[in-house]
Amino acid sequence: MPETIWWKSGTVYQVYPRSFQDTDGDGVGDLPGITARLDHLAWLGVDAVWISPFYRSPMADFGYDVADYCAVDPLFGTLDDFDALIAEAHRRKLKVILDFVPNHTSIEHPWFVESRASRDSEKRDWYIWRDPAPDGGPPNNWLSNFGGPAWTRDEASGQYYYHAFLSRQPDLNWRNPDVRAAMHDVLRFWLERGVDGFRVDVIWHLIKDEGFRDNPENPDFAPHRPGIERFSQVYSCDRPEVIEVIGGMRAVLREYGERVLIGEIYLPIERLVAYYGPDLSAADLPFNFQLLETPWRADAVAGLVAEYEAALPEGGWPNWVLGNHDRPRIAARVGEAQARVAAMLLLTLRGTPTLYYGDEIGIGDVPIPADRVQDPWERNEPGHGRDPVRTPMQWDDGPNAGFSRAEPWLPLTEDHERRNVDALRDDSRSILTLYRRLLSLRRDHPALSVGGWRGLPLDPALAADIFAYERFEGDEIVRILLNFGRTGWSVPLPDGQAWNVLLSTRPGQAGETVRDALTLGSDEGVVLRADPSR
Ligand code: NOJ
Repeated sequence: MPETIWWKSGTVYQVYPRSFQDTDGDGVGDLPGITARLDHLAWLGVDAVWISPFYRSPMADFGYDVADYCAVDPLFGTLDDFDALIAEAHRRKLKVILDFVPNHTSIEHPWFVESRASRDSEKRDWYIWRDPAPDGGPPNNWLSNFGGPAWTRDEASGQYYYHAFLSRQPDLNWRNPDVRAAMHDVLRFWLERGVDGFRVDVIWHLIKDEGFRDNPENPDFAPHRPGIERFSQVYSCDRPEVIEVIGGMRAVLREYGERVLIGEIYLPIERLVAYYGPDLSAADLPFNFQLLETPWRADAVAGLVAEYEAALPEGGWPNWVLGNHDRPRIAARVGEAQARVAAMLLLTLRGTPTLYYGDEIGIGDVPIPADRVQDPWERNEPGHGRDPVRTPMQWDDGPNAGFSRAEPWLPLTEDHERRNVDALRDDSRSILTLYRRLLSLRRDHPALSVGGWRGLPLDPALAADIFAYERFEGDEIVRILLNFGRTGWSVPLPDGQAWNVLLSTRPGQAGETVRDALTLGSDEGVVLRADPSR
């Protein structure tokens, strides 16, 4: 097997710390809880765990509003707990990736308190302050991602500060070299503690238009969409200067060897790939969220994969994501049967896959009663909240699914007594078993973990339902056939080759050898390997 950097051949698993495992009985997950569950990740067969923010925070946006970048919030534990977590992860050969939130701080961060204190404050320019427009209103038409204007007037100085998210999340001014230096030191603080990389929050937001021009109207805006989409975000984010800023962070990571920089970026493919930077000097992995947004049809997904593969710069390593703490769960979006096909897709495409906790047991979006809403976005713009995708991990059939001895901060799925790790781990038909087998296949076959990718042409009648592609490395060829449809098909295998069925999303199909044609059931995906002897 060719020697490949861990973050290329490996798989990442996202933990939302509030929802993974509670150990102190407050109904909210914590760092010792993650440590206690590392064996699950090692057993499952992932390589790295990315942990959403656990820094000191007033939790206006559940940790994405940081009041101290170098401290653990008491809700989640202590720095000692973090050190124990990383030591235990490394003992199991699991890498640890932190969530770095550089675009904004909490309103309670001492930097903002100082910046706000007066127009002459030394840290005034660490944030984005502007005079009102001539009519006294906000300086321009930029909107908050969580609804309403992105500018809040500060009574003391009469100026407005900019916040791409909540008014309690003021944006830092990344054009200021002192801000860059301070934030680089934050990276070093965690790198010194042994972290293996960062997922960088809203990285395409860091630099805003120098002239603060108004964003243009979005002609495609639909009223059921979040208000932010009323305007195209042309000037408030994705500015060309951001690439160099990312290069600066990447250079800090490289001081510590092979650490990974993953950038959160919601942009179309042609812009997304710019974030690898000239000569691959910026993000190692600009997060590819295209599967979250593409209609779940074979032809649409096949087109997307081909387009992305073609757009990647020379040497740029691909990556794929099926779910995260901001977007609907895959099982809710495509249904239980297709969630299995989706798992096979995620784990057989070329590039680093990121799994979202709970998807391996098929958790769907959980309805949240009005009196249990937590997400501030839901309060501002009802219907857009993210609580349904952040519900607790389900471990066993005991009280609160083994997540906590107290009432969890968000409800469990109705079927948690059946849908939990304990119940599914020894069930050969379960989605959990499928995920584990897929992860083990990926490890065992370099064609899958690091090999090339090519799409396979299909008869148009088949192409509406079936996505077919191959992965290859050395002499090995692995072929993947995924049926997105509700009917079975006979798929021709015209090349006279015999194929071993390595895995099917339908239990019990592996082990056969097929030639000439394969019968693919509805909602079925298979992984085949060219039989070297025939
Ligand atoms: C993106 C994060 O994924 C999301 O959860 C958060 O609310 C915003 N950034 C603001 O930090």
